[in-house]
Amino acid sequence: MAVIKMRNSGEVIEGNENVAAFLNKQGVLYEHWDASKLPIHLQNKFVLTDEEKAEILATFQTEIEDLAKRRGYQAWDVVALCEQTPNLEELLKKFEQVHTHTEDEVRAIVAGHGIFIIKGDEQTGYFNVELEAGDVISVPEGNPHFFTLMDDRQVVAVRLFIDQSGWVAHPYEEKEEGGK
Ligand SMILES: [Fe+2]
Repeated sequence: MAVIKMRNSGEVIEGNENVAAFLNKQGVLYEHWDASKLPIHLQNKFVLTDEEKAEILATFQTEIEDLAKRRGYQAWDVVALCEQTPNLEELLKKFEQVHTHTEDEVRAIVAGHGIFIIKGDEQTGYFNVELEAGDVISVPEGNPHFFTLMDDRQVVAVRLFIDQSGWVAHPYEEKEEGGK
């Protein structure tokens, strides 16, 4: 289950219903897949061959097609990151810049962990969504955010896309706020 941490107040939101209600209010899709469906030989594997990625997509085919049908996704793939990923530090540096996309950013975590840092409404400010296997999240189109790894520094996620142009990250700069 995901855990929410407010960046301003330090407040923590836990428990599926509380997390779902908070994310729903912020316009962030939050669902679950049964991550235990992942074949055992892939459950702790973060360097994946193309065949293994295809096996993951086949495992969650029903869930992927259901989500795609409801929300219009046309393409999907598997992304894996861990210490063995070439240029991991460089990749993370790039990931850790606040940006937006012209379509929503969907990730279904199937192994490991990840954090989305998302800009909420004015009152809420930025918040962390800590994700574990089975958590499915979609950051809305145009909503400032970034993604990074957690302490285990490993993740496998299914990504779904509407159109290739939506993959592009547009840097987002906070406007200076007077008096702060
Ligand atoms: Fe993004």
